[in-house]
Amino acid sequence: MKTANIAVLVSGGGTNLQALIDAQKSGIIKSGKISLVVSSNPGAYALTRAQNAGIATAVVSKKECATKEDFETKIIDALENAKTDIIVLAGFMCILSENFTKKYADRIINVHPSLIPSFCGEGFYGLHVHEAALGYGVKVTGATVHFVNEIPDGGKIILQKAVDILEGDTPEVLQKRVMEQAEWIILPKACELVCADIIKNKSEE
Ligand code: GAR
Repeated sequence: MKTANIAVLVSGGGTNLQALIDAQKSGIIKSGKISLVVSSNPGAYALTRAQNAGIATAVVSKKECATKEDFETKIIDALENAKTDIIVLAGFMCILSENFTKKYADRIINVHPSLIPSFCGEGFYGLHVHEAALGYGVKVTGATVHFVNEIPDGGKIILQKAVDILEGDTPEVLQKRVMEQAEWIILPKACELVCADIIKNKSEE
């Protein structure tokens, strides 16, 4: 295997997906290739970003699935069809079941917009994370890329990067700074590290 097949799971704007696409173009990601983008939301702008980059897309609308099991089965079907080696959660706003995370142990990574173990776990997603950081009054926050297991935001940490909180920050301003200074840098780096590892392990099999 020369490159690992990357599937990116998204729900929204997809700026982290864009960072991955750009990193593949610039050669930061060289051990993997983004072969599929799956969105839980049919209106996600991330889908347009994928299409613009010529990447295959699939929509598995959470609202249209009767159960979580049905939702995850459909995602797994799409992943298996694309022969996925690594799953990147990039602004994917759904918590995956233990059944799902066990099936892809050490093969799912997630970017979270805080320094785990602060401001993480169930209910901490998107802007809420930055509201919580500002509400607490911390002076430093950041982003974390970690493996995904059955505990929300509880898997092994791969990379972290700190970002200063400045006087007068709003959740929106802070979110943008954390993305620019941390998420868009460490997500592609971590993705490359895990892809390189997958290739190495496959060649030793
Ligand atoms: C990002 O800040 C990401 O870290 C966060 O949602 C945003 C998605 O933006 N994810 C979570 O909070 C997951 N717990 P994007 O769609 O532009 O990448």
